[in-house]
Amino acid sequence: MASPATLVNPISEIPFFQSKVATFSLNSFSLSKNLPFSRNGTSYLQHRTLKNAYFQRNVVDNSSLSSETEFGQISDVPLLSCSEAIERLRTFRACYESKQQYLAMYSSIFGGITTDPAAMVIPMDDHIVHRGHGVFDTAAIMDGYLYELDQHLDRFLGSAAMAKIKLPFDRERIRRILIQTVSASKCRKGSLRYWLSAGPGDFQLSPYGCHQSSLYAIVIQDQSASNHEGIKVVTSSVQIKPPQFAVMKSVNYLPNALSKMEAEENDAYAAIWLDEEGYIAEGPNMNVAFVTKEKELLMPKFDKILSGCTAKRVLVLAESLVKEGKLRGIRLGDVTMDEGKNADEMMLIGSGVFVRAVVQWDDQVIGDGNEGPVTRSLLNLILDDMKSGPATVRVPVPY
Ligand SMILES: Cc1ncc(COP(=O)(O)O)c(C=O)c1O
Repeated sequence: MASPATLVNPISEIPFFQSKVATFSLNSFSLSKNLPFSRNGTSYLQHRTLKNAYFQRNVVDNSSLSSETEFGQISDVPLLSCSEAIERLRTFRACYESKQQYLAMYSSIFGGITTDPAAMVIPMDDHIVHRGHGVFDTAAIMDGYLYELDQHLDRFLGSAAMAKIKLPFDRERIRRILIQTVSASKCRKGSLRYWLSAGPGDFQLSPYGCHQSSLYAIVIQDQSASNHEGIKVVTSSVQIKPPQFAVMKSVNYLPNALSKMEAEENDAYAAIWLDEEGYIAEGPNMNVAFVTKEKELLMPKFDKILSGCTAKRVLVLAESLVKEGKLRGIRLGDVTMDEGKNADEMMLIGSGVFVRAVVQWDDQVIGDGNEGPVTRSLLNLILDDMKSGPATVRVPVPY
């Protein structure tokens, strides 16, 4: 794999391309025709704000590369050298604004960290890509500390064991790599995501031809403030994963993605899954909890859903609310939909949402339709814990 340092001149300076580079018009048909993927017939990139003058000047008009033969036009796809492909990756990255900034990536394939988004790629023959044979996890970065890194790492390694992925390094080395990746990124607020894969090697189903399992990690900046606005959820019509797969954090998130899309199609934030017995399970990337009429914090138990690190921390922090008399008790158990919809408060909990009030589920308004006092207190407790919690949940990043 080419290292960013060996990257060559811009495409416009490569003789082969000089005659091929066309002046690019934002409204020209050539963009949607030549860019790699489209949705509903519209180029994905047309949804983005094009910002890069270099891209506008130098995008390659593939139609001028077409090969005419006696059989007609066979292809309008250019053949690229490795450095040209990487230069195009850079152009692709530069030409649209994403809400998310990727600050650093570690890959065990190149055995190092890069801060160049163009190099943040993984091999096509990695089984995580074409077989979904991989697991992942996340940890939030807050004020230069990794929140609950060890708790997420434990779950990560547990998921890897369930997915029968051998570790490329021991736990301590993986931990050091993750911290070093955040350090290289200089990110003080955002998230760290990491994957373990069966590894690259071939396009078979069995991983036995894979050279070695691979580890990837990426640091994503996030400057958004915590949000107190109550949200709406709907009941998911997408099937929940069977318990064997719901308890591990594998990369098979198609049901989760479809469930989230279903929510968005219904102007909701998330769709809530029920388990096969009809009890409330979880959201597509968060757990759920309720405050009952008896002022009990009630959460579905974790035997058929993902054991959320944030939810488990909330259960610990909520004990202070019991001592203060704001809660009568804390209970893990089966929660019926009727109980949930008629609760005084409902909340979503996870490393992405932290603690977020749900004020409507399908057509039912929850409580008085506002963020409730227990939800507010739990969000504040989690935010305080992230900023000043004990060393067991806050790992300092040496920048
Ligand atoms: C399916 C699912 N449930 C629950 C959670 C919440 O887990 P955590 O608090 O560890 O982020 C997630 C997190 O991504 C998830 O994907």
